[in-house]
Amino acid sequence: MEDIRRKTVKEIFATGDKFVGEKVDVKGWVRTRRGNKNVQFVALNDGSTINNLQIVFDLTKFPEEVLKPITTGSSIHVQGTLVASQGAGQSVEVQAEDLEIYGTSPSDYPLQKKGHTLEFLREKAHLRPRTNTFGAVLRIRHALAYAIHKFFNDKGFVYFHTPLITASDCEGAGAQFQVTTLPLNELPKTEDGSVDYSQDFFGKLASLTVSGQLEGELGATALGLIYTFGPTFRAENSNTPRHLSEFWMIEPEMAFYEIADNMDLAEEFIKYCINYALEHCKDDIQFLNDHFDKELIDRLKFVVENDFVRLPYTEGIKILEESGKKFEFPVYWGVDLASEHERYLVEEHFKKPVILTDYPKEIKAFYMKLNDDGKTVRAMDVLFPKIGEIIGGSQREENYEKLTNRINELGLTGMDWYVDTRKYGTVPHSGFGLGFERLVLFVTGMQNIRDVIPFPRYPKACEY
Ligand code: 4AD
Ligand code: MG
Repeated sequence: MEDIRRKTVKEIFATGDKFVGEKVDVKGWVRTRRGNKNVQFVALNDGSTINNLQIVFDLTKFPEEVLKPITTGSSIHVQGTLVASQGAGQSVEVQAEDLEIYGTSPSDYPLQKKGHTLEFLREKAHLRPRTNTFGAVLRIRHALAYAIHKFFNDKGFVYFHTPLITASDCEGAGAQFQVTTLPLNELPKTEDGSVDYSQDFFGKLASLTVSGQLEGELGATALGLIYTFGPTFRAENSNTPRHLSEFWMIEPEMAFYEIADNMDLAEEFIKYCINYALEHCKDDIQFLNDHFDKELIDRLKFVVENDFVRLPYTEGIKILEESGKKFEFPVYWGVDLASEHERYLVEEHFKKPVILTDYPKEIKAFYMKLNDDGKTVRAMDVLFPKIGEIIGGSQREENYEKLTNRINELGLTGMDWYVDTRKYGTVPHSGFGLGFERLVLFVTGMQNIRDVIPFPRYPKACEY
C-alpha cells in the first residue's frame, strides 16, 4: 500500500470531482458484493454517511479466490483511482488497485439481508449501528446534540453540570433508582426496624437523579442563564414506545424569565434544533423519509414554519369534553392528560404543536408557581404530533412562604438548600426540560424510543 492519507466516504462524495483521476485510500465495512466473471462491485460504508462508495474490482487483477473473503460485514482497506462512475446512483467510484482485508465476516453475520425488522435489530443492538437505518438515526442524534450546545452557547447560557447521584427527588413521583453499597441480604437496621442508611456509602439514602432542575436553579440564580444536558433515570414501569428508564434531558433554567419568556424560548429552541437537522442531515432524513415515514420531511417543515398554539389546560379540557370522541381514559377537570388526549388536541383539533399552560397544582410538581386562583400553577407542557409531551416546564415559585408551605403540605424534607434561593435574593425564574430521545424520535420519524438511543434501558432490559 502507498502512504496516502485516508479519505472518508463522506469527504469523497463532497469533493469527489476534485479528486477524479487521483489515487485514493478508503477503509470501511462491506455492505454487498455483486457482479460477474469480469468485474465485481463492492458497496463500501464507513459510517461517515449513509451513502456507499462503489469499489470496482477487475477480475484480471483480483481473481475470485482473492475476493472470496469479501462478504457482507467484512472490513477492508482499498487503494485505487477515483473515476467518474459509469453506473447510475453515484457520481464517482474507485477502480481498485490494492486490497487489504482487515476482518472477514462469516456467514452467520446477523445483518445479511436488507429489511430486517426493527424488533429483530433491537435484539442485535450491539451490531445495529452498522445498518443504514441506525447509522442515519445516530448521525442525526449527534447533530441534534451539537445543535443544542450551539443554541445555548450562542445565547450566552452556561453549561452547568448537575449531579447524577442525588439525595433529593425533583419530580416527587417516587420513581428513583437507589444507589447503595449496603449488603442487600443483611441490611443494617435501626431500632425501629427501618434500614440504617447512616451505614451506607453516603451516610444517607441516595438515588440516581430524575432531573437536574433543582440544582440547575442554584446555577441560574447565580449565573443567570444555565442549561444542563445529561442522563436522567426513572424507575417507572412504563412499557411504552415513548419511555426509557435511562434517557437524556436538556434543562435550561433562566433567572428573570416569566412563563411567557419560557414559552418563547422553548419554541425557538425546538425549531432551531429541527432546522439544524433539516439543514445538516439531508441525506439521512431523506433516507428515513423514503423508507419509514413518507410524511417526515413535510411534518418537520410544518412544525418549524408554524406558530405553536398556546392554551390554558382548562380550555384544553373543554375542547376534549366537547369533542364527542370516545377516549380510553376519561376526561374531566383535574385529570392528568394521557397521551391520547394530548395527541387529539395536537393532531386532530389544532393540527399544530400546542403549549398547554396553567395545570391544576395537584398533578404538577411542588416547585411550580401558584397562580392567583390558588388552584392552578404556571406550568407549560409542549405537545407534539406523534409524540405527545416533548417538553415539560414552568415558572418556579419564587415566594419563600408559598414554597415552604407547599413543601410542608407534601411532607418533603431535606430541602433547606433549595429554599435558600428564595430566602436570599429571590428572583422570578423559569425553566423547562426537553426529553432528548423524544426530540430524536420526532426528527427521525421512528416509532419507538428504543430505536433512537444506542443501548436502550427499559424494564427487564439492560444488555451491554
Ligand atoms: O415533564 P418532566 O418530568 O419534567 C421535569 O423533569 C422537569 N424537572 C423539567 C424542568 O422543568 N426542568 O420531564 C421532562 C421531559 C418530558 O417532557 C419528556 O420529554 C421527557 O423529559 N421524559 C422522558 N423521556 C423518555 N423517557 C421517560 N421515561 C421520560 N420521562 C420524561
Ligand atoms: Mg412532564
